[in-house]
Amino acid sequence: MSDAKVREPRPEPATPPDEAELAEAGLLLEIDGAVATVTLNRPERRNAMTFATWRGLARIGRSLPPRVRVVVLRGAGPSFSAGIDLAMFSGGGQPDGSDAEAADRFIAELQEGYLWLRRPEIVTIAAVHGHAIGGGFQLALACDLRVAADDAVFCMKEPALGLVPDLTGTKPLVEIVGLPRALELCLTARNVPAEEAARLGIAEIVTPRDRLDEAVRGLVDSLLAVNPGAAAATKRLLQQAPGNTLEEQCAAERREQIGRLREVFGAGRSAT
Ligand code: ACO
Repeated sequence: MSDAKVREPRPEPATPPDEAELAEAGLLLEIDGAVATVTLNRPERRNAMTFATWRGLARIGRSLPPRVRVVVLRGAGPSFSAGIDLAMFSGGGQPDGSDAEAADRFIAELQEGYLWLRRPEIVTIAAVHGHAIGGGFQLALACDLRVAADDAVFCMKEPALGLVPDLTGTKPLVEIVGLPRALELCLTARNVPAEEAARLGIAEIVTPRDRLDEAVRGLVDSLLAVNPGAAAATKRLLQQAPGNTLEEQCAAERREQIGRLREVFGAGRSAT
């Protein structure tokens, strides 16, 4: 993914969603210093997500204070997320595809709820337990890192429902597991247990269920220990690496390093 593409969806500053909007979206938001925690909060529906959830996520992304460096996404109750709320399909709120432009705009707006998680200035972590199905799996894939409880199960259910995964998940899935495995996972819509997810690179860490929060906290602490400017520059570099030639990537490394050298050793270096 090129740097330009990563930055493209970067939203304008906005006001954060209020309690009522968060409740309608089925979300909780807690910001503690440099760490924001977003909790999918419809446990009685296994954190099934509505269009309001995705719009709410986009709103959180747009209004994230600059001091936030790490965002943790987690689910309340037994599961991370059972994906789209199946009532959405019967509620008539979704486009039927007859107006392609309107459907394109509609889906693009929902994708905004996921795209901001790639921003270089933040590192995003999905803390996954129980089920991560469909849009829930894609939300985990939208994050930079996935910490899975040993009871986690990932499933790309969309093709089994006659749909395609359209919440930004196909690209990271292929980048992580490769085309043949991505094809197999999507077209069988099978469950991928935590241990296999770790083997495939879908989860960076697998931990006993009762130690998930502790594992996430440890990772957050390690991430926050790194210089913020160096972290953002390195994430930018790594994100563009797959799409660059070696020459382009070397040039990008030089550009980023010049910025770092100015900050670390230059006259205008920050006091911190
Ligand atoms: N949409 C709406 N309601 C849901 C969803 C969902 N996606 N998933 C679960 N629920 C509801 C159930 O209907 C049930 O409601 P009820 O208590 O009124 O009967 C409640 O949540 C609990 O669900 P159970 O099935 O009883 O919970 P269990 O832990 O046994 O199973 C599981 C969890 C595996 C997630 C199961 O609920 C399931 O398969 N859900 C559907 C998953 C799905 O197909 N999602 C769409 C993917 S495609 C996409 O995201 C675009």
